[in-house]
Amino acid sequence: FLIHALAGLGGYLLGAVPFGIVIARLFGLGDLRQIGSGNIGATNVLRTGNKFAAVLTLLLDSGKGAIAVGLTFLLTPEPQAAHAMLAAGFWAVIGHNFPIWLKFKGGKGVATTLGVLLATAWPVGLAAIATWLATAAIFRYSSLAALIALAAAPAYAWYFATPQHAILAGLLAVLAWARHHENIRRLMRGEETKIGKKKTV
Ligand code: G3P
Repeated sequence: FLIHALAGLGGYLLGAVPFGIVIARLFGLGDLRQIGSGNIGATNVLRTGNKFAAVLTLLLDSGKGAIAVGLTFLLTPEPQAAHAMLAAGFWAVIGHNFPIWLKFKGGKGVATTLGVLLATAWPVGLAAIATWLATAAIFRYSSLAALIALAAAPAYAWYFATPQHAILAGLLAVLAWARHHENIRRLMRGEETKIGKKKTV
């Protein structure tokens, strides 16, 4: 139990680093929470018009999920490692979505979830990323791409990995859908902002 608790705590603290806010501030783009959707993720950084800052946010937010899993793999003794990695990944996304540093008001966890999936079972991560890219290419909505990619992730995990991976992917998908409730409403009303558009919603 102690090993899982430590992996979870480490994952949470890593996940709680709000890279979008840090990058936006470093690049002089202002407070992300006052821009676009107000979300702290890469999609919203892109609405400032700075593509480099957006890509950097995407890499760091997914990287922190992958690193939480990777560090747990390195630090955990063998029999517990597999489960501890799943726990660290889950808590990294919780950290991103509910960061203690931002009074628990964080992001939607898409990039971090993709990083966690890549690090826990790379074919699952690749399949989810491919689904995101294909959906985004067709419909041009970041939120819709995330909703579809993450809804498919448990099936990918079931097929490419283990039932435990599928459970993790299922939990993360439910969480992401819940965090996207405003996006879902905007999508249904036809009011969601397309990728790269700066319009405030
Ligand atoms: O990754 C979050 C994305 O799916 C939606 O972001 O800023 O449009 O709410 P945003």
